[in-house]
Amino acid sequence: MQGQALKRREVIRRGLAMLVFSPWLGGSPWLEKPRLSEGLSFSGAKPLYLNQNESPYGLPPRARQAAIEALSQAHLYPHEHYVELKEKIAARERVKTEQVILGAGSTEIMTMAINSFGKKGEVVMAAPTYFDFEYYASLAGCRMKKVRLDKNYRHDLERLSAAVTSRTSLIYICDPHNPTGTVVGGQELKLFCQKVLAKYSPLILIDEAYYDYVDDFSYESMISLIREGYPVLVIRTFSKIYGLAGMRVGYGLASSETIKTLEKVRTNFASIAYPSLKAALVALEESNFLQQVKEANARGRKFVTKSLAEQGYFVLPSQTNFVLFEIEGEAKQWAQHLEKLGVYIRDFQFNNQNWLRVTLGRQEEMEIFLNRLKQVKSSYLKLNRLI
Ligand SMILES: Cc1ncc(COP(=O)(O)O)c(C=O)c1O
Repeated sequence: MQGQALKRREVIRRGLAMLVFSPWLGGSPWLEKPRLSEGLSFSGAKPLYLNQNESPYGLPPRARQAAIEALSQAHLYPHEHYVELKEKIAARERVKTEQVILGAGSTEIMTMAINSFGKKGEVVMAAPTYFDFEYYASLAGCRMKKVRLDKNYRHDLERLSAAVTSRTSLIYICDPHNPTGTVVGGQELKLFCQKVLAKYSPLILIDEAYYDYVDDFSYESMISLIREGYPVLVIRTFSKIYGLAGMRVGYGLASSETIKTLEKVRTNFASIAYPSLKAALVALEESNFLQQVKEANARGRKFVTKSLAEQGYFVLPSQTNFVLFEIEGEAKQWAQHLEKLGVYIRDFQFNNQNWLRVTLGRQEEMEIFLNRLKQVKSSYLKLNRLI
């Protein structure tokens, strides 16, 4: 009896946890990462995880070797290697070492910005935007002002600028944007920042997680504004093109005063493990590898965009390692159906439209995805008696 009651309680507890953390119901997608869960079966050989914008090409082999070798010193704290990585990034980006902050993924720096700046006033951001930013801002209890994207599904800089007031303490701009994959022109974004900062004094957080995949010539990093002394924080990550998502390394660049303010809310004096720091140090030098990944990603992006358009979908032009496209019917149902066929993607609903976001994998993975998508579409059409 007691055992049964315990079991029941456990089932209820798990159910509640699912409700709280389910990516579809507003929890953190990282906490309840959908892996092949109990009871789920599909006919494919192995599941395809195209839902977290991870690189299918892995990390540079030399970076992997460096991480393995670093294990021989795993008994030591990693302080000096923090300094080494900061120095390397500073030299590359032409800023001072004290203008660099490191974190366990760029997420850590993002949350530091939320806790040190966002909580002080109001946060202005696009809707939709990168899910985790909104999630952590709401966890921190921030007041948020959301501004719809423009008709081209890009940041609406005019309306964002109109939303800023003297109460605004943090502005979040994700460029390239997640989940749309779109970018805004560098000159436009610079002007936006300069105009806002001439009148008010928020911190502008520019999330450049997908910076390395862009080939649109109008795009520009906002690091130049930092060099010019503007209160801008740019965050970047080793999780995407460098293939180090599991190693958790990210960095931020800002004025040395902003970095000091961020450091005050750090809750772990060294959150990046030594092998991760070593892998990142080496990965920064692997320009051939990075170029090859960039090119392969661009080829995949072209192929998937074209194939989806040929299948009749409305596809947004992506500058990232994922593609967002509109579907008819419930995006969640399509995603669940695809999951049963062994393909994990992300579903979104905004502007009264349903969307699916697929991470670009290798060519053969994209072919499997397109095939399974066809299956899902034809079941949807049959179910709705459209064919
Ligand atoms: C826009 C954006 N910012 C930040 C991150 C977090 O990356 P990290 O692994 O560096 O924490 C992601 C991850 O997908 C992202 O899409």
